[in-house]
Amino acid sequence: MSSGNAFSHSRIAILDFGSQYTQVIARRVRECRVYSEILPHHASAKRLSDFVGIILSGGPASVFSPAAPQLDPAIFSLGIPVLGICYGVQLMAFHLGGSVEFSDRREYGAGSIKIVGQSDLFQSLPPEFQVWNSHGDKVTALPPGFRAVGATENSPYAAVEDTGRRLFGLQFHPEVAHTPLGKEVLENFLYRICGCKPDWTMGSFIEESCQEIRNKVQDDKVVLGLSGGVDSSVAAALIHRAIGDQLTCIFVNNGLLRAREAETVQKFFGENFRIRLKYVDASERFLGRLVGVTDPEQKRKIIGEEFIRVFETSTKELTAENEQGHRYRYLAQGTLYPDVIESIAIDGNPAAVIKSHHNVGGLPEKMRFELLEPLRQLFKDEVRQVGLELELPKEIVFRQPFPGPGLAVRVLGEVNDERLRILRQADEIVVSEMKAADWYYKVWQSFAVLLPVQSVGVMGDQRTYENTVALRIVESQDGMTADWVRIPFEILARISSRISNEVKGVNRVCYDISSKPPSTIEWE
Ligand code: XMP
Repeated sequence: MSSGNAFSHSRIAILDFGSQYTQVIARRVRECRVYSEILPHHASAKRLSDFVGIILSGGPASVFSPAAPQLDPAIFSLGIPVLGICYGVQLMAFHLGGSVEFSDRREYGAGSIKIVGQSDLFQSLPPEFQVWNSHGDKVTALPPGFRAVGATENSPYAAVEDTGRRLFGLQFHPEVAHTPLGKEVLENFLYRICGCKPDWTMGSFIEESCQEIRNKVQDDKVVLGLSGGVDSSVAAALIHRAIGDQLTCIFVNNGLLRAREAETVQKFFGENFRIRLKYVDASERFLGRLVGVTDPEQKRKIIGEEFIRVFETSTKELTAENEQGHRYRYLAQGTLYPDVIESIAIDGNPAAVIKSHHNVGGLPEKMRFELLEPLRQLFKDEVRQVGLELELPKEIVFRQPFPGPGLAVRVLGEVNDERLRILRQADEIVVSEMKAADWYYKVWQSFAVLLPVQSVGVMGDQRTYENTVALRIVESQDGMTADWVRIPFEILARISSRISNEVKGVNRVCYDISSKPPSTIEWE
């Protein structure tokens, strides 16, 4: 769905100049229950005229660099309040006739700001408070019409404003946790200066979104590839709330699922939620194509291709089964906001990492679905809240990520029934022990990997020569970087002894103590 659809909420635009904190600003604004959208830095003043406020993010560039990300200076005369943060305030000074001084020394770290003039930005805040700085260049003379309202040891222009033109600037970062009162500053900007109300809630999102889905879909049909993961599950529940049986979910069993996953998804969505669910058992096709394949990329490629084939056949079958012969016009996907904004990469910005997506992308052109992506505007934590409001259980809403190619990338080397059996049993033990110890929901992922390594052991009086299982338990914010969890030894001990005792074919368990980078989370 496009972002421009009849929004009844006031919207704040955040122009992204490549700051590592741009998404943080968006989240902070949403925490204030105000809807925000991240736009590229060059968004035109015309495009921004529908918003009630504009925030210019910081960024690593210097305004003096020829490659510096620029903005449309006409936004300064729209009459819409603009808050420039860090690089944003430097741009303001640069464009409006102030001066900015180049510096190759960054002012980095905690400092304190003194309020030197009455400002709506600082209403109800103490006369001095702690702030976080991270900038090289700084403003050295204000543009006409501006005055200083806050100063730090290093700068008399740490907070500036021109209330006539409704322009505001902060040299420090109000969005980061190291500025403890930063949220209050942002609230002042949103509520007092932009006139926003705190009315963006997940309840209101669900209502509006259902209305929007109904308007868009009308009498047509929607198909959704349900994986059982959080995003596709929440998308399914939301679309089902909007259009009921016009939605059909396809759940493909690729033979690479965890123990009882297929039954659980069918039971939950089919029986409890009464969502129309087409269950396709394609495990033989997938496993057949994986025989003899050991190269990780080859495995992924085969699984991806096979998924598309199965999905295509299944939607054709659905159309044929449909009495009126209605084609399925829409393909629903659980695409999230970070998937959308990460494509706004700014050269040289280390924060702009492009993630490869694992959605149904790559479906043949001839299928010509129109996309329905009702979660496009949400962050992961918001999706979880929507899931809870739609009464999805905690087990689904907070479940750990699971890779699309499934256990194939956790059975190292060749994938076959016996090796999948070993891994499923080991994995089930890991999950159940992590849950029992109350650690499952505290970590990003915890799973078992079956290595293509056999080693000598002893069982009773017998010498054994069996498989090795590695445990991978990591913490992470977004999967981009990760660290191994310093899990209590007792839990490791219990998992290890249960796997060696209960899973036939395993005589050794290791704990993976690698961070990402340089390792990845999955082993393949
Ligand atoms: P890596 O192994 O690249 O994984 O450090 C980062 C995160 O992504 C998950 N992952 C996938 N998810 N399809 C997915 O839906 C995939 O092909 C895939 N590969 C990795 C992984 O579990 C981790 O959370």
